[in-house]
Parts: sequence; structure tokens; C-alpha cells
Amino acid sequence: MRICSSIAEVRAACLAARAGGKTLGLVPTMGALHEGHLSLVRAAKAKCEAVAASIFVNPTQFGPTEDLAKYPRPFERDCSMLQNEGIEILFTPSAAEIYPPASVTWVTVEGLSDKLDGRSRPGHFRGVTTVVAKLFNIVEPQVAFFGQKDAAQLAIIRRLVRDLHFPIQIVACPIVREADSLAMSSRNAYLNKNERARALVLQKTLQRAEEQFRAGERNAVKIISAVKATFPSDPHVRLDYLEIVDPETLEPIETISSTALVAIAAFVGTTRLIDNVFLQA
Ligand code: PAF
Repeated sequence: MRICSSIAEVRAACLAARAGGKTLGLVPTMGALHEGHLSLVRAAKAKCEAVAASIFVNPTQFGPTEDLAKYPRPFERDCSMLQNEGIEILFTPSAAEIYPPASVTWVTVEGLSDKLDGRSRPGHFRGVTTVVAKLFNIVEPQVAFFGQKDAAQLAIIRRLVRDLHFPIQIVACPIVREADSLAMSSRNAYLNKNERARALVLQKTLQRAEEQFRAGERNAVKIISAVKATFPSDPHVRLDYLEIVDPETLEPIETISSTALVAIAAFVGTTRLIDNVFLQA
């Protein structure tokens, strides 16, 4: 595995990896890798002839009071996990490499970027789409892999690729869960024992929405209000949002007549977690 920290170096490595028309897959990450990330890497290995991953804790997608400083950075561990998966290239740029001094150019997917997490985290998706566009320009993969857990991010990146004509196929990989169904996330590491148990409320809430749907309810507003009414009143857990939306536009749905995305975000202690499920009419 070639580890590159400069853009010039990774560009050369990616050019060589694509030589002779070989397919290069990209797995962008912020590190603190878990099985969810590894599932993306494995999907990339299965589909592409060469795989590049990036580890970059992107400062522009964190709000001023968010967890940028404490975001876990187990670099050596991440490197050996990726090495074991047999990827060809690892890009680990510094913030100064990605954002040269006096950078003023941003990529924003308007309309979608202020929905769901974008509403609670102003500027978050502008940071995500800007860094993802930069990574796409630098690595020039034919395929890029993202987790379904970040459903809003996925919809926004698909729109970015469409609107800016990136010749890149976006592959979404299913949510990977712990044995007790908690969606894997690098931020689960912040949870203490009690919070870890409380975190199951996200998955249980989604299950209740699914139950209503399976029982025949198609009115999204009714499902949301019935499920919200059962959300536990616990001073350590705060619901950020629970919405049923169109998976492409992220617009709220009134009547579920095709595929709908039920998305939830909640604070458990000070840790913000997200999860989602699809309902298929
Ligand atoms: O999903 C993530 O880990 C990040 O948002 C991404 C796509 C790597 C951009 O920083």
C-alpha cells in the first residue's frame, strides 16, 4: 500500500493505478475505521481493479462547537487495517494540502444541503461536498463508495456528481451494525457504558416506524407522530430529528407510495448519532 500525503504524489499513484484503463475505486473516510468502512473497502475491492482510500478529518464539515478537536485519529491502526484489506493507495493529506491558504472556493448542493443533518449542522454539507469534489478531482476514480448510514450525505453526493458531471459511479453500501443493532459509527467510541445502552433508542425508534408501515399505515405524518409519542423521555437522550423523506430529494413525504427514507438523529449524552431505514411501498 502506497501512503501519499501530497496531492502531486497521490495524483501520480492514481494515474499509474488507472493505467491501461484499469478501474480505480475510491473510499473516502475520516479514519477511526470500523467494519462499516471496511465493508466499503471490500465492496471497492470486489468491483475495482485498484482501490484508493483517503483518511482526512475534514475541518470544514465541523461546526465551531462540534467535535473536530476530539475526533479519534488512530492513524497507525487505520493504516494497518487498510494494509490488511490489500488496497493500493492511501491518501492522508494535511488540512493545508487540501485547503491552500486563502482558499475561497466552495461546492454547495443547494436545497438539499439544509435538510436533515444540514438543518441541525449549518455548513456541514458544504464542507462535505467541497472536500468530496476535491478528492474526486485529485484521485479521479471511476467508482466511489459511501455508506448508507449517512443517507443525506449520499443523496447530496449523488446530486453533486450529477450536477457537476463527474464521470464517477457512486456505490452505496448497506449500514453495518453491531450485534445489538447499533449502527457502526466512529462516534460510538465517545459513548460510555450507559450511553452505549441508551443509543439503541435510534434503532428501536426506526423499528417502530417500520412496524406502523407494515401494519398498513401509509400516512408519513401519522407514523412520525405515533412514533415520536413513544420516544422515551430521558434527560440523557434528545431527539434531533425524525423524518420520512424522499431518498433523492430529501423532501418530506406525506403519503408513502414508493421508496421512503426514515431518518433519525439523536443526541445520546453529548454524542450525536444518526441512523435510517428504507420503507418500500
Ligand atoms: O462520511 C465521511 O466519513 C465524510 O463525510 C467524508 C465523505 C469522508 C467527507 O469528509
